[in-house]
Amino acid sequence: MIMFIIAAVVMFSGVTGSLNVTESLEADTADMLAHPNSVPEFTEEETEILGQILDVEAEGDVMATGELNPNHYQAQRAAKVVQHYLNTRNGSPFRLFRLSRVHSGNLEDLVDSGRKYQLEITVKESISNTTEKLSASVLFPREERQGSAQVQASCDELLKVNITAQEEAFYQQYKNSQNLVSAQYLPDSHGRIDDDMRPFWHLSIVASSFVMLKESNENTLYNMAQVANVTQLATENDQLKFDGHILLHDMVSQEIIHWKLQFTWSPPEGVKVLQMEQLPHCHHCEKPQNSN
Ligand SMILES: *[C@@H]1O[C@H](CO)[C@@H](O)[C@H](O)[C@H]1NC(C)=O
Ligand SMILES: *[C@@H]1O[C@H](CO)[C@@H](O)[C@H](O)[C@H]1NC(C)=O
Ligand SMILES: *[C@@H]1O[C@H](CO)[C@@H](O)[C@H](O)[C@H]1NC(C)=O
Ligand SMILES: *[C@@H]1O[C@H](CO)[C@@H](O)[C@H](O)[C@H]1NC(C)=O
Repeated sequence: MIMFIIAAVVMFSGVTGSLNVTESLEADTADMLAHPNSVPEFTEEETEILGQILDVEAEGDVMATGELNPNHYQAQRAAKVVQHYLNTRNGSPFRLFRLSRVHSGNLEDLVDSGRKYQLEITVKESISNTTEKLSASVLFPREERQGSAQVQASCDELLKVNITAQEEAFYQQYKNSQNLVSAQYLPDSHGRIDDDMRPFWHLSIVASSFVMLKESNENTLYNMAQVANVTQLATENDQLKFDGHILLHDMVSQEIIHWKLQFTWSPPEGVKVLQMEQLPHCHHCEKPQNSN
């Protein structure tokens, strides 16, 4: 529980750690949820952040428009959707986007279409550790329209990092492989991922970004918690193909949500999600397992 709150502190203060720190925070989030009955103790600062998260429920529809506090949850949540969007557009086993910082945010209520956030943010490509400041807009459609957020954002610098060689080597290694790869519990309960499984973790995060982009609204803040398992299927049409079972963490409701995904990847085509299915809640299968 404490690790979850630390993750919240990191996120809300706009500070980012290295990829490894981030990964183990998210892993610990999953680990923490394996003990849902533990009673957390909070410091004053942690209580404030948690309060901020819980305020959301209380504030409901009356969220302020106009200039936003960039460190506050409203701007942070909208900005997180940009991260998912960039992953769906440009993510790969060797290119993974992460929201690094929100500089400014403005929210406009558009009567016809929904609520539109204009954001200035810094995004980091986690694997090469390069950053870029960019402008983005996120439109959450009115509830009755039931659509997903519409995002506009583009990054130039982050796409210049040349990953052609790594992608090609990884693709060739698994394209005609006799032994289809499969992995469980990425990361494991200690937050560890074997180096050769790291591209599959990244690929699963990109695939999960399609779900997180589709499911996000103003009342959610999704993070990838864990890959329960990912299994390679036979290559079809030159695309590497996978089935995955992933656990997402919504920091607002504190729910862990299970999804089954089928997705493909190749260097020229990028990641495509063929199927996504949310699995029903069940208490005995709720908690992430550890690997031993
Ligand atoms: C992350 O951890 C892995 C092994 O746990 C290590 O090989 C790698 O260099 C680390 N990366 C960074 C950015 O610290
Ligand atoms: C990432 O880049 C930042 C700024 O360029 C630097 O301060 C930091 O040490 C780098 N982190 C890693 C893990 O290389
Ligand atoms: C990227 O790297 C590959 C292989 O290392 C090289 O052939 C290619 O010219 C590079 N592309 C750019 C745009 O630098
Ligand atoms: C993947 O993990 C889920 C959740 O732990 C489990 O229900 C499912 O049977 C696993 N599938 C495979 C192929 O291991």
